Amino acid sequence: MKILILHGPNLNLLGQREPGVYGTLTLAAINERLEQDAAELQVAIDCRQSNHEGTLIDWIHEALGQFDGLVINPGGYTHTSVAIRDAIAGVAIPTVEVHLSNIHKRESFRHHSYIAPVAIGQISGFGPESYRLGLRALVTQLRSSK
Ligand code: DQA
Repeated sequence: MKILILHGPNLNLLGQREPGVYGTLTLAAINERLEQDAAELQVAIDCRQSNHEGTLIDWIHEALGQFDGLVINPGGYTHTSVAIRDAIAGVAIPTVEVHLSNIHKRESFRHHSYIAPVAIGQISGFGPESYRLGLRALVTQLRSSK
């Protein structure tokens, strides 16, 4: 089983970016932990980050036939991107949306997600654990639907 993990804009700055909101772990450290989880779960993961909407969309398209599932933190695009939502709906790859912070507890412009309606579910507010929970939940879901 192969899972694509996509990190959206500004997540390359993790570790130095608003540590009070996003914590001090770097993206590399998060990906390293996910690699360990993937080994335990006996799945392969490919972790990528982009600050560009079109690049994220291209990767989602290219995932068709290559990946069984998608874990995505769309960053700020969560609240703006009809195009990323349409890409996920278009490829119909089972998707889990994750956020480090609890978007529902923050500014009202973060409360709405364009991605949530095309995802299996959303995990928000557990810091880097959100990714780990998202990966585990997705793999469990994919295995139970086989
Ligand atoms: C985020 C929440 C978004 O509102 C924000 O724009 C981000 C990060 C999170 O992981 O908490 O860039 O997706």
